[in-house]
Amino acid sequence: MEYETPLFFHVMSYASDADRDVVDMVSGNPDWEPPEALRDGLREYADFDADRFQYAPSEGLAHLREEIADRRGVDPGQVVVTNGGGEANYLAMARALERQPGGEVILTDPVYPYYPGKTTMLGGEQTFVPAEADGQLDPERVREAASDDLAAIVVNSPNNPTGAVYPRETVEELAAIAEAHDAILVSDEVYDHYDLSGSFVSALSVDSDHRVVTNSFSKTFAATGLRVGYAVFPHDLVEDAKSRHMLVNVATTRPGQHAAYRALRETDPAYHEANRELLRERVDAFTSALDDAGAEYTVPDGAFYVLARFDGFPGTLGNVERLVDEAGVAGMPGEAFGTAYDDWLRFALVTPRVEEAADRLAAYFD
Ligand SMILES: Cc1ncc(COP(=O)(O)O)c(C=O)c1O
Repeated sequence: MEYETPLFFHVMSYASDADRDVVDMVSGNPDWEPPEALRDGLREYADFDADRFQYAPSEGLAHLREEIADRRGVDPGQVVVTNGGGEANYLAMARALERQPGGEVILTDPVYPYYPGKTTMLGGEQTFVPAEADGQLDPERVREAASDDLAAIVVNSPNNPTGAVYPRETVEELAAIAEAHDAILVSDEVYDHYDLSGSFVSALSVDSDHRVVTNSFSKTFAATGLRVGYAVFPHDLVEDAKSRHMLVNVATTRPGQHAAYRALRETDPAYHEANRELLRERVDAFTSALDDAGAEYTVPDGAFYVLARFDGFPGTLGNVERLVDEAGVAGMPGEAFGTAYDDWLRFALVTPRVEEAADRLAAYFD
């Protein structure tokens, strides 16, 4: 995959420019409410003194970093607060490729498309390891693919787009492979609060100084526009990551960090459980209607996407545009995620109209 602009924005604007009503299942923008404490934090911020409208400490507000560190069982010095999970992944991959310039970055196929783009942008070489039929990653295949130039293994669990949640053995094996090659495991865990299986394992639970864990409040608190995320680095990698963050961003948004802090402190676990329950209902509603459409589909263990395959209708951009125009449903082409699922389409369950969307698909493919 080349260094190219990911297709998300193209498909989103194609759907919104359509002349007909379209059920938008393209983006990863939750349609459920952020926690009340997050809104309260933003409102409260407006009345703070002028000094709190000035630069935040580059690595993040101290009380937010401490809160994150406390929850994640790490030292606050290891935490860099970033402009979302996107920047956290960039910093982690950049750090790995500084250690091994031009090195190999192992990615999965299907892949979250920003990883190959970042790899190329940072001068790395992509190697894709195909996911198994159930979306899981076989560490043995990663071990076989790893070259002497390995700089990083970048994985995402719960997974976008397959919905797979990696078991402990996978996470441990991946960290061991990274260690054996003196490389970095980058574990993107932005969907950890959307583990529908109850089996999610964070890479932070594996003791290793060869892994960076990235996360974000975008999905956790249904606020992708807030732009607050974080990365947890091993002690000996964190300082250079902080420098890069400072040079690229200065710091991330101060009101957003305050709101994220309040949301972390005040949000009841019931908020997250209600979101998971909503998703479970949507998965059921969407997939049973897909049965009527005669489609093959994935049932996610986590995150909020369903992959579906319709006979003789591969997941190309052209077919996605056809579905927008002719069926009134917008998804993402499977080919945007690599080759393993290029026959498939990805639908994000971020609309209450999932059943209607599947009915439209059933009518279209009838
Ligand atoms: C796997 C994965 N990582 C990172 C991100 C980026 O999230 P953020 O909004 O925190 O930058 C997304 C967004 O969809 C994602 O799906």
